[in-house]
Amino acid sequence: MRMYDCISKKKSGFALSKEEIKFLVDGYTLGEIPDYQMSAFLMAVCLKGMTEEETLSLTMAMAESGDILDLSAIHGCKADKHSTGGVGDKTTLVVAPMVAALKVPVAKMSGRGLGHTGGTIDKLESFPGFRTALTQEEFFSQVNRIGLAVMAQTANLAPADKKIYALRDVTATVDSMPLIASSIMSKKLAAGASVIVLDVKSGSGAFMKTLEDSVALAKQMVDLGNGAGRKTYAVVTDMNQPLGNNIGNILEVKEAIDALNGCGPEDLMDASCTLAAQMLVGAGKAASFDEGYQMAEGTIKDGSAFEKFCEFIEAQGGDAAYAREPQKFPTAPIKFPVKASASGYISSMDTEQIGLASLVLGAGREKKEDKIDPAAGIQMCIKIGDFVEAGQIIAVLYTSEEKKAVAARDRLLPAITISKEQVVPAKHVLAILE
Ligand code: URA
Repeated sequence: MRMYDCISKKKSGFALSKEEIKFLVDGYTLGEIPDYQMSAFLMAVCLKGMTEEETLSLTMAMAESGDILDLSAIHGCKADKHSTGGVGDKTTLVVAPMVAALKVPVAKMSGRGLGHTGGTIDKLESFPGFRTALTQEEFFSQVNRIGLAVMAQTANLAPADKKIYALRDVTATVDSMPLIASSIMSKKLAAGASVIVLDVKSGSGAFMKTLEDSVALAKQMVDLGNGAGRKTYAVVTDMNQPLGNNIGNILEVKEAIDALNGCGPEDLMDASCTLAAQMLVGAGKAASFDEGYQMAEGTIKDGSAFEKFCEFIEAQGGDAAYAREPQKFPTAPIKFPVKASASGYISSMDTEQIGLASLVLGAGREKKEDKIDPAAGIQMCIKIGDFVEAGQIIAVLYTSEEKKAVAARDRLLPAITISKEQVVPAKHVLAILE
């Protein structure tokens, strides 16, 4: 078999066999196939697509490129959730303790920020002392002890995806449906949970910009998960504006703490209860979605989700005093207000640009090796449909240097459209697939 022939076949629009896909995934992981050939192949996939069979072969080849976790040492039906990536998406911080408080074990592997989107691991590291590099034994024993652990993806969990993703990130080959589906599902299948709930983001801040593409991606991932014997559900949620109001690590942690204390923004509360409800239904804890939703809300009302969150932060070496008194978190030295240039209704947002503005402030990485500034980010003061007066503050930028604030403001302002006509905002949860 030759990589040249695989590239050429895909370039001409033909489907590759399972053996050919395994050959190129294994060859690339072992370093036998160079980046330039893999890049050419990935671009051919972006342009010509993949059949369902090819996507399944790619998913399995990447999942099997490293360890497949056996979670049988954890008692009960293990649930996991995964987002396709969004701006201001802190739902894991709310959903995981909700579900764990209801005695469904959550054994979750999470990632760091990618491109304009944030990552759970970076957010959790805002807590002084919090450890995300757990050994498998620590991970299992913590889930058995308190029902919840979140760790960073280990080097040997779907290593093929890790390597291919890094290449996609720099070769403009991220936003391909079969590549996203196989990347996410290879990790989820290797991570071993029996119930998987996918949060598929849709809109200007997501990798899938249209509802049609998001639903198609969700369907493809649900089929891949169910086909591999995992109960898989997908929720399609709106990313035409940031989720909640805060973007950036400490700012998002603070908003998640507000949500756990019952005072989070409406869209974040709805997204969290929806995802938790699906996890509870999948794990057999709730008989229906509505029952699961009410149970999730109940963990906020009775304080059990917040208590579980504090227990989880302490269990991983973090200081839970920061959760009980969030004012302990450091704040950025510069708070830079951004003002509306005209009066009118907020009619649309380019959420990807807003995510990139928070990156400019220091909340994300431009290059893999960059260090993030946990206090950097954006507090949005508006939602789509709101009326603003010219000169009204629409966002506050948190950063360490004035020049970063100016650059971020110049990116943020054109990303927000103000119109004379009143606009009705879309619902946050757009579709649920079982
Ligand atoms: N998240 C992933 O893990 N992979 C993708 O391809 C996109 C989002």
